Amino acid sequence: MHPIRIEPAHGPLMEAATALLNRFFVEEGFSTASDRIAENVRRMSADPWHWIAVALDRDRAVGVVTVSTALYVEWGRFGEIGDLYVLPEARGRGVAGALLGAAVEWSRDLGCSTVGVTVTPGAENAYDLRNFYEHLGFRFSGRTTGVREVG
Ligand SMILES: CC(C)(COP(=O)(O)OP(=O)(O)OC[C@H]1O[C@@H](n2cnc3c(N)ncnc32)[C@H](O)[C@@H]1OP(=O)(O)O)[C@@H](O)C(=O)NCCC(=O)NCCS
Repeated sequence: MHPIRIEPAHGPLMEAATALLNRFFVEEGFSTASDRIAENVRRMSADPWHWIAVALDRDRAVGVVTVSTALYVEWGRFGEIGDLYVLPEARGRGVAGALLGAAVEWSRDLGCSTVGVTVTPGAENAYDLRNFYEHLGFRFSGRTTGVREVG
């Protein structure tokens, strides 16, 4: 089996990343409009504190990861895995592991002390995500995330 390559999503790979993220959002039932996804991918890809990368199987994009970073009193710079998606037919071959490994490496190189992820209840039920992330070195402290829309 040939190796999976992880590449930042610039140029034509930005379109591939956008297509994968659109598919991810539709499959998981997130209501974000596709033009908003495309615009935010463009903004994140142009911003040095954010990272979007795709996994290439030969030349086909089969997975995507996004990382957003911010400064906190508790952690200094903190990286958050915002999105992680692998095409159904490419799962179970280490693609997500490779994407996460590259995301952690990028975060460390940028100066992050910690990388986190939020797991939605739907994704936890569908993919046993806590176990998945724990297997890959994350630990869940029981914190919960609240959001309030302000714009
Ligand atoms: C979750 C998802 C990203 C996994 O992708 P994948 O490419 O099949 O995962 P991998 O094959 O890279 O698995 C990586 C490792 O985790 C292990 N693993 C996979 N699922 C696991 C689980 N439920 N519990 C424990 N370990 C698990 C694998 O065995 C592998 O271990 P290894 O590196 O020791 O061999 C994929 O199913 C997906 O895209 N789901 C829909 C989107 C989603 O929910 N994303 C998460 C949003 S936060």
